[in-house]
Amino acid sequence: MYAYDTFDHAMVNARVEEFRDQVARRLSGELTEEEFRPLRLMNGLYLQLHAYMLRVAVPYGTLNSRQMRRLAHIARKYDKGYGHFTTRQNIQYNWPKLVDAPDILADLAEVEMHAIQTSGNCIRNVTTDQFAGAAHDEVADPRATAEIIRQWSTFHPEFSFLPRKFKIAITGAPKDRAAVKWHDIGLVLKKNETGELGVEVLVGGGMGRTPVIAKTIANFVPESEMLSYLEAILRVYNEQGRRDNKYKARIKILVEDTGTEEFKRLVEEEYEAIRAGFIDVPAEEVARIRQFFAPPPLPVLADEDAGLDALAAADFRFRAWVKNNTFAHKVPGHVSVTISLKPHGGIPGDATDAQMDLVADIAEEYSQDEVRVSHEQNLILPHVAKRDLVAIWQKLDAAGLGAANVGLLTDIIACPGLDYCSLANARSIPIAQAITNRFDDLKRLEDIGQLKIKISGCINSCGHHHAGHIGILGVDRKGEENYQLLLGGSGEEDASKAAILGPGFDEHGIVDAVEKVVTAYMGERKEGETFLAAYRRLGPDVFKEAVYGAR
Ligand code: HEM
Ligand code: SF4
Repeated sequence: MYAYDTFDHAMVNARVEEFRDQVARRLSGELTEEEFRPLRLMNGLYLQLHAYMLRVAVPYGTLNSRQMRRLAHIARKYDKGYGHFTTRQNIQYNWPKLVDAPDILADLAEVEMHAIQTSGNCIRNVTTDQFAGAAHDEVADPRATAEIIRQWSTFHPEFSFLPRKFKIAITGAPKDRAAVKWHDIGLVLKKNETGELGVEVLVGGGMGRTPVIAKTIANFVPESEMLSYLEAILRVYNEQGRRDNKYKARIKILVEDTGTEEFKRLVEEEYEAIRAGFIDVPAEEVARIRQFFAPPPLPVLADEDAGLDALAAADFRFRAWVKNNTFAHKVPGHVSVTISLKPHGGIPGDATDAQMDLVADIAEEYSQDEVRVSHEQNLILPHVAKRDLVAIWQKLDAAGLGAANVGLLTDIIACPGLDYCSLANARSIPIAQAITNRFDDLKRLEDIGQLKIKISGCINSCGHHHAGHIGILGVDRKGEENYQLLLGGSGEEDASKAAILGPGFDEHGIVDAVEKVVTAYMGERKEGETFLAAYRRLGPDVFKEAVYGAR
């Protein structure tokens, strides 16, 4: 993985010291909270309902064991013993004290991590496929491209005060595991007829109160010219994006208002003007950065393992875990393992300090010292030999990390909601907990099959409800928490917007409604048909009838 050079170290350390001074001035009263606010936000420090919240970037979702142990240490020393992994491959700490914030950032800097550009109207953490560099279906490792974008976008003087926040996601495989169509810019790595590497560029996706699916404006930009193209998009947006109304300030609104064709023309005009300039990365530098992401030297191993087969035959939970939580690897005899952070009754995306330490130990011993964070709020061991699966599962299961539900109904995405967030209308976490408690039978979950539930506590959509096969949105109905039910969304290459089914429910009613939707699907599905496919074939009426018919 990428290793900081002396410049990176100096830059991050200087920022820590600058923030230490700013915090000292806030604590002494020299700065008011209002004056301090923009300074803390530039370092990922928010003020939430009960406390400060620190958002730490995990660039393209990749961590080594030393970094993971440091995240555990921060949770233990400065927080309440846990952290929350988010849908944008960050980790959030919910209870840091202001006085400790500089020390936390110093601890992070030691392991080449920071919280820069995790807030504010700048280019945020670039996210990607959690199986990058390991996935059997990948064209190229998207992390090298993401690292190039990170270096270009960090402290970019022209793009530090954009009209609004800006999110870029990139996938290296045709199967989209990074939700690229829901981002301000989505990039899909591909090769042209001559084998040259480049990107398809999509713009104008986003969630929030106006959900929009990104549209392609360039089918193929050579990798060597990608930064010029991105620079051109950002310039057009920076100049023409609306600054008068924050609800209309995202690039999706500009693209909608301008029209995709005209927007593309504006970008290409700018691109032509700057592409001959200086910003493109020399081929040697691209090669140097790619070197950091060279595939680990894994031996080709047998695909069969007697120990694995024996335990799978004897233990249904292990069999389900192998089936649901492992993903095909490039190298025979290996898989990527998804560690579910969705134990039934638990808080989606939370991990304790002890669990983080355990994951670090396992990564060191069995996964080439690498851990990934997925946008679905799980952790991944990307490079695991199949013959080690039994040992890994036993360790994980003993620590409460053995849930075999990846991709199933209880692998729920949920934002912090009203339990923490100052913008929330309703709680998200207890709804996720109630649904996982209701659907607590693994055999039933496997029978239901692939089904993604995503929950947001308000229209800002941090829990991706627009992209849920079943989406749940918390709203405020005359001072009461109320939940809308949406069906038919997708965050993958077949992206679609979920549609509201009908009137909302209270916190108990929404769980019943989910169950009625699932029961209707089970009754109507054809052999092997997933929930999403069935919904697309049937339309909403069957589900409306199931949920509201007997009211
Ligand atoms: C608790 C503190 C948080 C605050 C104050 C906050 C605030 C916001 C706001 C205001 C928006 C809407 C922006 C817009 O549409 O222009 C937003 C969007 C979003 N946030 Fe959060 N958020 C928080 C936590 C989270 C967490 C924990 C996650 C991940 C689980 C997350 C991921 C996202 C995503 C994915 C979007 C929507 C995608 C988009 O259109 O950009 N946020 N957030
Ligand atoms: S969706 Fe709303 S409630 Fe949930 S974290 Fe985002 S801003 Fe807060």
